[in-house]
Amino acid sequence: MNDRFLRACRREPVDRTPLWIMRQAGRYLPEYRALKERHDFLTLCRTPELAVEATLQPLRRFPLDAAIVFSDIMIPLEAMGVELEFTPGPHIARPVRTRADVDALTPRPAEEATAFVGEALRMLRRELDGRTPVIGFCGAPFTLAAYLVEGRGREGFGGVKNLMMREPATFVALLDKLADQMADYLAFQVRSGAQALQLFDSWAGLLAPEDYRTYVLPSLQRLVRALPHEGGVPLIYFAVDGNHLLEDSLAIGADVLGLCWRTPVSQARRRTGGRVALQGNLDPYALFAPPDVVRARAQAVLDDAGDAPGHVMNLGHGILPETPIASVEALVETVAGAARRTS
Ligand code: CP3
Repeated sequence: MNDRFLRACRREPVDRTPLWIMRQAGRYLPEYRALKERHDFLTLCRTPELAVEATLQPLRRFPLDAAIVFSDIMIPLEAMGVELEFTPGPHIARPVRTRADVDALTPRPAEEATAFVGEALRMLRRELDGRTPVIGFCGAPFTLAAYLVEGRGREGFGGVKNLMMREPATFVALLDKLADQMADYLAFQVRSGAQALQLFDSWAGLLAPEDYRTYVLPSLQRLVRALPHEGGVPLIYFAVDGNHLLEDSLAIGADVLGLCWRTPVSQARRRTGGRVALQGNLDPYALFAPPDVVRARAQAVLDDAGDAPGHVMNLGHGILPETPIASVEALVETVAGAARRTS
C-alpha cells in the first residue's frame, strides 16, 4: 500500500515527498483527448466507467501518489436544479442573482442525485486495490457562488462581490445552502470510498481578508462541522491566490492547506506554525521550461519545503492543457528521486 500521501497529510514521516498533480486527468494527455473525441465532458463525468478510465489515465503513465476522481466542481450543482453546460468552461442557463433564485435551489441527497460519483469511487477503490489512495473533492461555497451568480467564468467575478455588498443576507443564504449540499456530497464520497478530500476555492483570492472572515469563513466552517470526523479522512483546503488569507484559513479546520505558487512553502510553514500540512506549489508555467529547468524548479520547491513532515508536492494550480509530457516526467522523476530523512 502506498500511503505516503495520506501520511504526509497527517504530518507523519514519509520515505519521500508524495506527489499528485491538480487536473492530472486532462487535455495535456493524448489519451484524454482521444476519450474526449468520443464522449463529451459531461458524459465522461456522469458515466462511472468513463470517469474511472479518465482518472486512471495519468496513473498508467506516471507513478503518482494519489488519484483524484474525475468530475468537476460544478457537477453536484445539477443536483440542486442548476442547468449546466461546458464550453469548455462552465455555463449556467439561469444564473442565481436574487433571494428568490437562492430559495429556488433545491437541495437533494447526493446519494440520489450524484450516484454516478459514488459508483466511480467504489470502482476506483476496487481497481486500485490499495496501491494508490483516492481523493474526492468539491468546490468551496464562495467559488461555486461565483459561477452561479455570474453564470460563467469571468475576470474578477464582479457579480458575486456585488451581491455580497448589496444584499449580504442573500449572499450568506446562498453560501450556507451550498455549504450544506457540499457537506452532504463530501460525506457521500467518503462513504463511497474517498480516502482524502479537497475543497477547491479557486476564487477566494478575490476577497479582502475582512470580507473573507465575515462572509466566507463561516460557510466553510459550517461545511467542515457537518462532515463526519471519524475515519481520519484528511481534508485539504486550496485557495488560489490566497496568500493574504493564509492565517485566516487555518480556522477552517482543514488538515492540509494548498498553496498556489505565490507563497513559498517555507514561509507558509512559518506563518501556520506547523499546525497543518502544506500542499504545492510549482508554478504550472514552470512546466513549459526545458526538462533540466523543470527538475531544478521542482527540486527548489522540495528544498524550500525542507525535511519537516507534512508536505505534499503538487503544482500551484491545475496543469495546463498544452503542457509537454516530458515536463511531467521530469517533475515525477525529481520527486521520486528525492529521498527524505524519515526521522
Ligand atoms: O484530474 C483532476 O484534477 C480531476 C478533475 C477536475 C476537473 N475540474 C476536470 C475538468 C477537477 C478537480 C476540476 C476542478 C475545477 N473545475 C475547478 C477547481 C480547480 C481550478 O482549476 O481552479 C474549477 C474552477 C472548475 C470549473 C471548470 N471546469 C473550469 C473553469 C473549466 C474550464 C477550464 C479549462 O480547463 O478549460 C472546467 C472544465 C474541465 N473540468 C475540464 C476538465 C478536464 C476541461 C473540459 C474538457 O476536457 O473539455
